[in-house]
Amino acid sequence: MEMPISQSWFARATKVIPGGVYGHTSPAASLPLRFPLYAEYGEGCHYTDPDGNRYLDFLCAYGPVILGYHHPEVEKAAAEARSKGLVFNHPTPVMVELAELLTRRVGFASWTVFGKNGSDMTTWAIQVARQHTGRKKILAIKGAYHGVDAWTNPSPGGIIEEDRIHIHRFAWNDIDAFRGMVRNFKDQIAAIILTPFHHPAFGGNQLPAPGFFEAIQETCSKEGIVVILDDIRAGFRLHANGSHCVFPIQPDIACYCKAIGNGYAISAAAGTERMRQAAGQVFLTGSYWNDPVAMAAAKTCLEVIARDRVPEKLEKLGSQLLEGLERAGKDIGHPLKGTPPAATPYIVFDGDADLRKMQRFSGLCSERGVIFHPHHNWFMSAAHTPDVVEHAIEVGREALKHINDA
Ligand SMILES: Cc1ncc(COP(=O)(O)O)c(C=O)c1O
Repeated sequence: MEMPISQSWFARATKVIPGGVYGHTSPAASLPLRFPLYAEYGEGCHYTDPDGNRYLDFLCAYGPVILGYHHPEVEKAAAEARSKGLVFNHPTPVMVELAELLTRRVGFASWTVFGKNGSDMTTWAIQVARQHTGRKKILAIKGAYHGVDAWTNPSPGGIIEEDRIHIHRFAWNDIDAFRGMVRNFKDQIAAIILTPFHHPAFGGNQLPAPGFFEAIQETCSKEGIVVILDDIRAGFRLHANGSHCVFPIQPDIACYCKAIGNGYAISAAAGTERMRQAAGQVFLTGSYWNDPVAMAAAKTCLEVIARDRVPEKLEKLGSQLLEGLERAGKDIGHPLKGTPPAATPYIVFDGDADLRKMQRFSGLCSERGVIFHPHHNWFMSAAHTPDVVEHAIEVGREALKHINDA
C-alpha cells in the first residue's frame, strides 16, 4: 500500500501536534511501519485511509465499533437526537431511558451513571469505593490497563510516586498473592479492580483460572472490599447483559464503554444498591457528559446487540478466525495459538517472546489490506461475515509465507 497523502498529513501534524500522532495510535507505539497512519471513511467492517487504501478491520476503533461503521439504526437514532440539540443546561429524557435499560440489563445493578471515556468511569468507581469504605488502598492486576489517569497510566511520563502510593498490583490468577495483600493491608483496602479476563498489551488473552474469581469474591465479601469489574473492553461483547454473566464474578460496580455507543462517545458505570449512597456523594460531571446524541445511539446499539444476538455472532466469527489462523500457522510451519475469548481474539506465535514474528505478521497483513494489531487484542464486529473472515485467513496465510523474507 502506498500512502503519500497520509505521509504528508503526518509531516504537517508533526509541526502542530506533539509526536504528530500521539497515544496508542502513534507510530512510536511499536506499530508496524506499513500500518495506516490516518483513516478517512468507514463502512461496515472496512475503512479507507486518505490515500484511498481500503482495509478490512479487526480492530474496530480499538473496540467501540461493535456493529460496524455507519450502522443505519444507530445513525438514525443519533441523527434524530442531533436534530433536537447537542447539549443543554439539563439532562434529557433519553438519559433516563438509557439508565433504565442498562439497570434492567445488568442484573446486579440498581443505578447507572454516564461519562465519555472509560477512564472517567474507572477513576470515579475507585473514588466511590473509597467513599463507601473510608479506606485508601486499591488492588489491581499487574499489566492490566484501566485508563490514562495518574493512578493507572501505564506510562511513567508526568507521574509522581504519590499518585500510586495506594495502588497495589499482583499477578493475574495468583490467589496466594491476593490473599497476602489482603492480610498485609487488613482493613485498609477499599476495592479491587478486575477485568473479566486479562488482556495485557504485548501478550495473549488470559482467562480466569478455576477458583480465582471465587476466591476473590469470598474474601472481598468477608473483608468489606468493593469489587469493581472493569468491563470497558469486553462488556456487551461476550454477553448482552455484561461479562459478569459469563464469568463467576458479581461486582459491586461495573464500568462499561467500548461497546455501548457504536463509536459515539459514552461510558457508563452501574452499581448495586449498597453502593448507591456513596455513588451520590462522589461529584461526577463533564462539559459534554449529558450528551443526548451519544445516549440515543447507545440505547439503540444496546438494543441491537441483544436483538441480533451479537455476542453469539462475535464468538462464532472469532472462533472461525482463530481456528483458520492456527491451521495456516501449522501448514506453513509458523505454529501459533489463538487466545480466547474469540469475540476479542488475539494470536501468539510459538517462541516469539520479543513479538518480532507478530510485528512482521501484522505489517505484512496491513500491506495486504487486513488490520491485525501486533500487540493489542483484536475485535470482531457484527459487520464481519464468514466470507470476510475467510479472506482474512487467506491474507494471514500469505503473510506467514513471507514472514522470514528480508
Ligand atoms: C479495560 C480497560 N479499562 C479502561 C480503559 C480506558 O478507557 P478509555 O481509553 O476510554 O479512557 C480501556 C481502554 O482501552 C480498557 O481497555
